[in-house]
Amino acid sequence: MLGNMLTDIVATILLVLMFVYVPFHLINSLWLKPKRLEKCLRDQGFRGNPYRPISGDLAEINKSSISKSISSLSHDIIPHIMPFFHQTIQKYGKDSFMWYGRSPRLNITKPEFIREIFTKYEVFTKGPPGKKTTFGLVLREGEDWAKVRRIINPAFEMEKLKNMLPTMEKCCDTMIRKWEEIIATTGSAEVDVYSSLNVFSGDVIAKTSFGSSYEEGKKLFKLQEEQVFLAFQVMRSISNYIPGWRYLPTKVNRRRKKLAHETKEMVKTLVENRKKLKQTEESINKVDLLGIMLESNEKEIEENGIGLSMEEVIDECKLFLLAGKDTTSSLLTWAMVLLSEHQDWQSKAREEVLSRFGKDNTPDYNGLNSLTIVNMIINETLRFYPPASSLSRIIHTDTKLKNLTLLNGMEINMPTIMVHRDQDLWGDDANEFNPNRFAKGVLNANKVPGSFMPFGGGPRMCVGKNYALIEAKLALTKILQHFSFELSPSYVHAPMCLAAMVPQFGAPLILHQI
Ligand code: HEM
Ligand SMILES: *[C@@H]1O[C@H](CO)[C@@H](O)[C@H](O)[C@H]1NC(C)=O
Ligand SMILES: *[C@@H]1O[C@H](CO)[C@@H](O)[C@H](O)[C@H]1NC(C)=O
Ligand SMILES: *[C@@H]1O[C@H](CO)[C@@H](O)[C@H](O)[C@H]1NC(C)=O
Ligand SMILES: *[C@@H]1O[C@H](CO)[C@@H](O)[C@H](O)[C@H]1NC(C)=O
Repeated sequence: MLGNMLTDIVATILLVLMFVYVPFHLINSLWLKPKRLEKCLRDQGFRGNPYRPISGDLAEINKSSISKSISSLSHDIIPHIMPFFHQTIQKYGKDSFMWYGRSPRLNITKPEFIREIFTKYEVFTKGPPGKKTTFGLVLREGEDWAKVRRIINPAFEMEKLKNMLPTMEKCCDTMIRKWEEIIATTGSAEVDVYSSLNVFSGDVIAKTSFGSSYEEGKKLFKLQEEQVFLAFQVMRSISNYIPGWRYLPTKVNRRRKKLAHETKEMVKTLVENRKKLKQTEESINKVDLLGIMLESNEKEIEENGIGLSMEEVIDECKLFLLAGKDTTSSLLTWAMVLLSEHQDWQSKAREEVLSRFGKDNTPDYNGLNSLTIVNMIINETLRFYPPASSLSRIIHTDTKLKNLTLLNGMEINMPTIMVHRDQDLWGDDANEFNPNRFAKGVLNANKVPGSFMPFGGGPRMCVGKNYALIEAKLALTKILQHFSFELSPSYVHAPMCLAAMVPQFGAPLILHQI
C-alpha cells in the first residue's frame, strides 16, 4: 500500500516536471524572457530586429562576417569589418541592439557610459559568474579574478619589463636578419610583414613566459591556438546556443577533448622542468613571466592562505599568447601599413630614431619611452586601427547605467573602433591618420576622458599594456633603423576581425635596405 502510494507520488512529481516545469522553463528561456528584454529596450527608445527564437540575428551576423576586400586604401572600414552592426545602425539608428541568440546586445559608445561599465566590473562581466573557462584571467570573475590578477600583476612591473627587453631584442634581431637575407641580393624585395611580425610576437611571448623551457612553451601554444580556433568556430555556430550541445560526441567536440588531454600532458612536462630548475638555479626563475608568477603565487599563499597550483599558473601563462600575440602583431602591422601610406611620417620617425640611437645602437628602456614621434605614431595606430576593435559585457542582475534600466540577460557591445573614430570626440579629422593629435598627450588628443581605450579600462584594463607598448616601440625603432618600406602593388586592404583586427590577405610591403 505504502509502496504504491510512494510510486504514485514520485510518478506525479515526474509528470509535473515533464509536462509543466520543463515546458514552462523552455518557453520562458526561449520566448518569454527574450521578449521581456526586448520590450524593456523598446520602451527606452532602442530599436532592432524583433526577436526570433533561439538564433536571433546570429545567422546574419555570421553571414556578413565573411570579408571582402576594400577597393583602394580606404580607411572607411567599419561597414567592412562589422557589416551587420553597421547595417543595424543604418536601419534602426544609433540606439540599437542586435540579437546574439537569446540575448539582445546593445551598442554603447559614449565614453561616460563606457567608463561606468569598466568601473562596475562586477556588474558588467565578461562571462557568466562562476563558470570555469579555458580563457584564464581574461574571463575569470569576482574574487577568483582578483586573486589571479594580484598574482599576475608583479610580472608586468617596470623593473621586470626592463629585464625582458634583451629577450625581446633577440627575437627582433632574428626577424630583421631574415628580412636582410631576403633583400640581400637586390637591395629591396617584397615581404609579408604580417606573417613575420606574427612569428616575432609569438616568439617574444614564448621566450619571456617560459625562459629556458621555451620549446615546450611553443608546443603548448600550438595546442592552444588550435583550441581557440575550434572555440571560435563553435561560438559562431547556432549549436552553441542549444543547451547541452557541447557534451555530444561530435567531431569538433572529440577533437577538443583530445587537445585538452594533450595540453594537460604538456603542462605536466613544464611543471616537472620547472621543479628541476628550481633545485638547480634559483635565479633563473625570476626573469621569465612563469618564474615571477610562481614567486608571487607563493607570496599570495603566505599572505592569504590560498594561491594557485603550478598547473593553474601555467594555464595563465598559456593565456598570454592568446591575449598578447595577435594583438601586438596587429598593432605593428597596421603601423607599418600606415607608415607606408604616409611616407612623411615614416621619414620623421626614422629621423628621430637615428638621431637618438644612430644606426646600430641598441635602444634601451628609458630611451624607447622618451621617443616622441614614434610614441605618437603608435598611439595613433592604436586609435585608428585598434587591435581589439570591440569589447562586450554580460549583465546578470537587473541594474542601472546612468538613466538606462538594464535587465539580467542583456549584453553590451562597446565598439572601440567607433568610439575612436567619433568626430564629436576627436574632431573633424577623426577619420584620418594624424599622429599630431597626440603631440600633447592623450588627454589633449580628444574632448572627453575615456575616448581612447585600446587597452580597455578600469580594474580589468589589459595587464600586458606596458609590455606590449615597449615591445612595439622596440620593434618599430629597430625596423626604422634598418629599412624603409612602402606598400607592394600586391597589397590588398582587407582588415578583418578575428581575435584581433588583422589583414585578411597579409601585408606585403616592399622593404629597402638603408
Ligand atoms: C597591442 C597589444 C594589446 C592590445 C591592444 C590589448 C588589448 C586588451 C584589451 C582591450 C583588454 C581588455 C578586454 C576587455 O575589457 O574586455 C585586454 C585584456 C588583457 N590583456 Fe591585453 N592587449 C594587448 C597585449 C597584451 C599582451 C602582450 C598581454 C600579455 C602578455 C596581454 C594580456 C592581457 C590579459 C591577461 C588581459 C585580461 C586582463 C583582466 O581581465 O584582468 N595583452 N587586452
Ligand atoms: C537618457 O538621457 C539622454 C540624455 O542624456 C537622453 O537622450 C535619453 O533619451 C535618455 N534615455 C532614457 C531612457 O531616459
Ligand atoms: C550607438 O552607436 C552610435 C554611434 O555608432 C552612438 O552615436 C550612439 O550613441 C550609440 N548608442 C548608445 C546607447 O550609446
Ligand atoms: C556560420 O557559418 C559557418 C560557415 O561559414 C557555418 O558552419 C555555421 O553553421 C554558421 N553559423 C550560423 C549561426 O549560421
Ligand atoms: C599613448 O597612450 C598611452 C596609453 O595607452 C599613454 O600612457 C601615453 O602617454 C600616450 N602617449 C602619447 C604620446 O600620447
